[in-house]
Amino acid sequence: MNEKRKGTALRLLGLILKGNGLRFTGVLISIFVSAGASVGASVFLESLIDDYIAPLLLEASPVFTGLLRALGMMACLYAAGILCSFLYNWLMVSISQRCLKQIRDQMFSHMQSLPIRYFDTHPHGDVMSVYTNDVDTLRQMISQSIPQAISSIMSIVVVFCAMVKISLILTATVLLCVGCMLVIVRHIAGRSSTYFVKQQASLGALNGYIEEMVEGQKVVKVFCHEEKAKEGFDRLNDQLFESAKNANKYANILMPAMNNLGNLQYVIIAIVGGVAALNGTGLTLGAIAAFLQLSKSFTQPISQISQQLNSIIMALAGAERVFTLIDEESEQDDGYVTLVNAKEENGELVETQERTGVWAWKHPHSDGTITYTKLTGDVRFYDVDFAYEEGKTILHNITLYAKPGQKLAFVGSTGAGKTTITNLINRFYDIADGKIRYDDININKIKKSDLRRSLGIVLQDTNLFTGTVRENIRYGRLDATDQEVEEAAKLANADEFIRRLPDGYDTMLTDNGSNLSQGQRQLIAIARAAVADPPVMILDEATSSIDTRTESLVQKGMDRLMHGRTVFVIAHRLSTVRNSDAIMVLDHGRIIERGDHESLIQEHGIYYQLYTGAFEME
Ligand SMILES: Nc1ncnc2c1ncn2[C@@H]1O[C@H](COP(=O)(O)OP(=O)(O)OP(=O)(O)O)[C@@H](O)[C@H]1O
Ligand SMILES: [Mg+2]
Repeated sequence: MNEKRKGTALRLLGLILKGNGLRFTGVLISIFVSAGASVGASVFLESLIDDYIAPLLLEASPVFTGLLRALGMMACLYAAGILCSFLYNWLMVSISQRCLKQIRDQMFSHMQSLPIRYFDTHPHGDVMSVYTNDVDTLRQMISQSIPQAISSIMSIVVVFCAMVKISLILTATVLLCVGCMLVIVRHIAGRSSTYFVKQQASLGALNGYIEEMVEGQKVVKVFCHEEKAKEGFDRLNDQLFESAKNANKYANILMPAMNNLGNLQYVIIAIVGGVAALNGTGLTLGAIAAFLQLSKSFTQPISQISQQLNSIIMALAGAERVFTLIDEESEQDDGYVTLVNAKEENGELVETQERTGVWAWKHPHSDGTITYTKLTGDVRFYDVDFAYEEGKTILHNITLYAKPGQKLAFVGSTGAGKTTITNLINRFYDIADGKIRYDDININKIKKSDLRRSLGIVLQDTNLFTGTVRENIRYGRLDATDQEVEEAAKLANADEFIRRLPDGYDTMLTDNGSNLSQGQRQLIAIARAAVADPPVMILDEATSSIDTRTESLVQKGMDRLMHGRTVFVIAHRLSTVRNSDAIMVLDHGRIIERGDHESLIQEHGIYYQLYTGAFEME
């Protein structure tokens, strides 16, 4: 086992023991008792035959009471063994399920703390498979392999002592046989372990493919690619078949091979024992019978451990992936400026617990003083550069300002960097160079959750969750009343169509709202942002799928809501941005023109050409 695997194994053990110390001790004791009971019963066989059965055979009128008592004791020993093995299996289920619940909890809560960059760089199918495949291999290992391994090791030790006590020659014979077995096991198991790892990889690939095809089913149908999709599936399925076949072929040979070797060993011991007894080594019939029983109990756990080896290797690889996810660096947040409810008293802002609708940035300074700045939604960029990947600068020297109450629009070709600018305002990503100030505070100083709370964002891709329409809108602000939810929907012009749904606001949405039209989904997303009632709103192509008449109604509603607040609008449809206070024309990550609609038109530049349709941006 390499060092990394060892570390993973130890860490896993720590997790299993955490909070389960008492239960685990119970498991160890029960395993010990159960192993001892089965050995005790085997050893007892010796005195049963030699002290009870053999003398009885020689008597003319045998009295069976002694024998019955002895048999009763043996039965008790077996019963104790069974009871204990039942107990440790039962305890182990509780330990393993607790441990898995804890691991899932840890993974999910940690995943929530990961930066967007993590999801950019890790295929979603992979992340999913950590929760399913890898956790499942762990379950198998914790609930089956670990107790089996402990029980096997204990049995081996106890049985070994008992064997040595009965006969040294026979013990040496058993060890020799076991040595031969191990050589064979190593040979077979070594072959299958590589196939087991391959089997896991093929399984992951197949899962990923199925997921992609389910998601993309419409595109598959549109391009009549059903056959092609099947071909791709067959290829992956064949790979899985090959690796699974090989892995299990070798693993399945192991069992009969071990059994036959065990039988062979039985015969060898019987012969060696018989010869030794005849040669007057003092070995009795009872001792040989007991030893034969013990030798079985000795080789059985060895073959069990060797069979568990593959699943342990697989589970450790799974545990490694689980820990990699848990160890993934969380989103850093050094912000110390927080957002608080405020009210004005004697012309000064003071913090308050009640919801006043007035918000302030609470800014602690190094000299111990605290200042409050009213949240107004003043956003300024100073010479901002940004790259998603090092060396590939996407935004160059972006300088802009949005005063409270202004509506700022970004237009420009696909891939120009419009969405990227908004990703920087809410700090999905951090800038490489330059400064962004929000209400004259460097946004790096603002606590991320508070920063995002102050922004209402309608993302370019709408995402609705499983739940009712009402719940989806309330996602914007969890303590919004039903009336506030409906008002937000009216504002987004969604109220009308929602009321026409079968259950109105209580209509269930599933699978990202697939029972709604694209435009309806956008209206719900707008209502969701509106219910949060934020001082700054970012609308990234929020109305792109909505007809122009509805759009203008939505805009009127938004203008009413956002009166005195800052709005960033991104749109390809230039009618959407016409009435903005300032329009920035972006090209390849640079602002190439800026001004309001009238002045840009007069300038006769790119915007003019875009607007009049005379120019297509590359
Ligand atoms: N997560 C990412 N990782 C790496 N590069 C990215 C990422 N997101 C966007 N880009 C790149 O950044 C550039 C700007 O993308 P952005 O999404 O800001 O464009 P956009 O102006 O919003 O385009 P559209 O009008 O199509 O929405 C593109 O060249 C794109 O390839
Ligand atoms: Mg975009």
